Amino acid sequence: MVRITPKSKVIVLTGAGISAESGIGTFRAANGLWENHNVQDIASPEGFKRNPCLVWQFYKKRWLQSQEAMPNPAHFALVKLEQYLGDGFRLITQNVDGLHSRAGSSRVWEIHGSLNRCYCTNCGVSAAMQDIDLTQDIPLCPKCGSSLRPDIVWFGEIPYFLFEIEGAIKQCDYFIIVGTSGVVYPAAGFVLTASLMGAKTIALNLDEPDNIGFIDTFYQGKSGEILPALIEEWIKP
Ligand code: APR
Ligand code: ZN
Repeated sequence: MVRITPKSKVIVLTGAGISAESGIGTFRAANGLWENHNVQDIASPEGFKRNPCLVWQFYKKRWLQSQEAMPNPAHFALVKLEQYLGDGFRLITQNVDGLHSRAGSSRVWEIHGSLNRCYCTNCGVSAAMQDIDLTQDIPLCPKCGSSLRPDIVWFGEIPYFLFEIEGAIKQCDYFIIVGTSGVVYPAAGFVLTASLMGAKTIALNLDEPDNIGFIDTFYQGKSGEILPALIEEWIKP
């Protein structure tokens, strides 16, 4: 029985599935984002070095798509859970579409970066996608003129916020995963760590996630359809 009180410490980890009902493609479904591309060509530092134009084409398209997408009821349900818990709530997202922040979530760790940002491969200066000249095949740094790259954590690179996440996982009462296949580490391993530290683990996914073995309670379905009612149920006094 899931019972979340205002004193509970809850971490939620989301993946591409939570944005599916906002019209943004997931990665590993049929006709998923990776289907038409060799991941190493468009989501690795080596691929960017080989063909930065191709990588920029892919991410410009994804950024424009994310700008047109709207948060769905699952994103807003997590805002409600955050309002109920305050500092006892943390949201880890593998998504780079920015929909959690646009829905109103504020305690968000975007561990794989964000389509909304890019940074200079030379001087490291960061820039917002909306502020740079995207007509250039390879957008250039406003400060030093070198090529910019999307602020996305690619395969072989270290995700952001791992130190903060390790600390938060040690103290959480509930670790909830929503809309992720559970195949990409280290994110897929967070739920095991949480379970070993004594947290209750919950998953909500269209299909059984790969790391189902670490899950205490599994809800199968579309997050936009079932997460709002589940959160109402969980926080009921
Ligand atoms: N509601 C809930 N779950 C859904 C929905 C939905 N409406 N639609 C799809 N799903 C589930 C699918 O069943 C699948 O298990 O979402 C999951 C999406 O899995 P992936 O496509 O593998 O995406 P994700 O788990 O986020 O991938 C993790 O891998 O490629 C890298 O960096 C990329 O952040 C990404 C990471
Ligand atoms: Zn620069």
